[in-house]
Amino acid sequence: MEKIILDCDPGHDDAIAILLAAANPAIDLLGITTVSGNHNVDKTTRNALAVCTAYGINVPVAKGARGPLIGEQILAVEIHGETGLDGPVLPPASFELDSRHAVDFIIDTVMTHEPKTVSLVPVGPYTNIALAIRKEPRIIERVKRVIVMGGAYTRGNITPAAEFNIYADPEAADVVFRADWDVTMIGLDLTQTQALATPDLQDRVRAIGGSISTFILDIWEFIATTHGGLLQIKYPAIHDACCVAALIDPTIITSEKADIRVELAGRWSRGMTVCNFEKMGGMRHYAGTAAEQVDFRHTVAMTLDHPKFCDMIVEAIEWLSRTKNLN
Ligand code: BDR
Ligand code: CA
Repeated sequence: MEKIILDCDPGHDDAIAILLAAANPAIDLLGITTVSGNHNVDKTTRNALAVCTAYGINVPVAKGARGPLIGEQILAVEIHGETGLDGPVLPPASFELDSRHAVDFIIDTVMTHEPKTVSLVPVGPYTNIALAIRKEPRIIERVKRVIVMGGAYTRGNITPAAEFNIYADPEAADVVFRADWDVTMIGLDLTQTQALATPDLQDRVRAIGGSISTFILDIWEFIATTHGGLLQIKYPAIHDACCVAALIDPTIITSEKADIRVELAGRWSRGMTVCNFEKMGGMRHYAGTAAEQVDFRHTVAMTLDHPKFCDMIVEAIEWLSRTKNLN
């Protein structure tokens, strides 16, 4: 079983990531940590608690960073709405937050488990993870895997160059990609072209019936308007759940090794993830600075097995409907 901490900003696709992590027997969801991103951290935390309340997910939820390491917080209200999870109706959250800050929850959890048994899954801005590294650098060698949603090697969604999770806190992303661990990056190139809620998937979810099926369909109905309208994505993108899916079954993605740098200074390219792919020959130095060591230790996801991904989502909804007695 993969022990994970899901660091998120729910968020429509974050909510699906939570459900998939809670419902798949291959995942041991040790806790959920929240961060500002799709909306402020008060709302993303409320949404995480509400999803857990509605679907009987009994794991610690710890609230995290209010804003990026430096600069102003940007939110994705135009994509996720005024609540951060517009569309579906959720009950008020009825269980308590973990008393720790998300950063301390991450550190405690990683340090009290056996080395190399806990994986981190950041699917919002990486502020909490960067702060945890700063506060307790020993987590770097103890963590098993880091698998992030964010970045892109072709084009962004918040600017032409940058993807939202990175752009919302580029300095945090820089800390995460520079740390001495290998990161698997599942970026927009994959999620907004391949991880889509196609009509066929939506029909399968509709056929299950019950409250959780309605919840997921309402998520997609809302997000279809913002993804389709603003971003011109064909069907709702289920970005964040891809990270959980790749931990459940690593063969669901194919990938390439790359050196990944986060652009911090570019006037038009701040927040861009500059991917230097080993397979494509790999540039041996950057911008004339031969001294900068190139290191292809990170992994960039390239393709997703969409039929398998859909099966996982359908099975998760069926399992939750059955075991939590939801109708
Ligand atoms: C990412 O940004 C958020 O809107 C989504 O939840 C996802 O994590 C996609 O760019
Ligand atoms: Ca997210």
